[in-house]
Amino acid sequence: MTSPSWYPNEVALAGRENLDMEHVARYDGKMDSSAQSELSILRRFGLNSQSTVIEFGAGTGQFTVEAARACARVVAVDVSPPMLAYLEKKLLDQDLTNVTLVNAGFLSYTHREGQADFVYSRYALHHLPDFWKAIALDRMRKLLSSGGICRLWDVVYDFNPAEATGRIEAWCSQGGASVDGEWSRAEFEEHARDEHSTFRWLLEPMIERAGFEIVEVKYAAETFDAEYVLRAD
Ligand SMILES: C[S@@+](CC[C@H](N)C(=O)[O-])C[C@H]1O[C@@H](n2cnc3c(N)ncnc32)[C@H](O)[C@@H]1O
Repeated sequence: MTSPSWYPNEVALAGRENLDMEHVARYDGKMDSSAQSELSILRRFGLNSQSTVIEFGAGTGQFTVEAARACARVVAVDVSPPMLAYLEKKLLDQDLTNVTLVNAGFLSYTHREGQADFVYSRYALHHLPDFWKAIALDRMRKLLSSGGICRLWDVVYDFNPAEATGRIEAWCSQGGASVDGEWSRAEFEEHARDEHSTFRWLLEPMIERAGFEIVEVKYAAETFDAEYVLRAD
């Protein structure tokens, strides 16, 4: 089914850098996606060699590759053609044949491959404005049966609006001068200014409204990393 014409263009919301081949090429040199510890968490919730995982915002596929080694099937969804092309080459180089790459987004992906056991997404949901995050969470919930697990990790703010200037300024000041091998101050600023990270006190009710129970949350106040394990009601 095609999306209504009033749905947003997810590529236009994908983040300038995610469509930039130079950023894609340097991404793995500046980001460790903790794929092994992520898999350990999912194994605690039943992930095994029979599992199917749908990943939204797979990017360069650090998690995708390790999940493909651990599971029966991974569907890696991303709106960025350069990210998908980079991941496709990685999969070919590593002879991994159980990953389906899909050029789509949270709002446009149509699942055609049987029931998913897990939904995974790290650092991608913040590309959607809040109304669309709620729609995306509802769509993610519908991909799972009752009891299915969603692992969601994103940059989420946990302060009052009156604190925003000081807290965002402190966060941006963690950035360096270079975009190579580190995250620059300009990239932190771009995230705060142009992307759609939201408040924890808005996101968590959206998660619950979509039909998930928040079974675990780890929150880092300095980096704004919110790491959730969600169980479908
Ligand atoms: C910061 S990268 C994160 C990559 C990877 N998940 C990780 O943790 O390293 C964000 C990814 O989300 C993708 N993305 C942005 N908007 C999206 C959307 N609406 N649906 C699916 N993927 C999206 C971007 O193209 C990019 O590959």
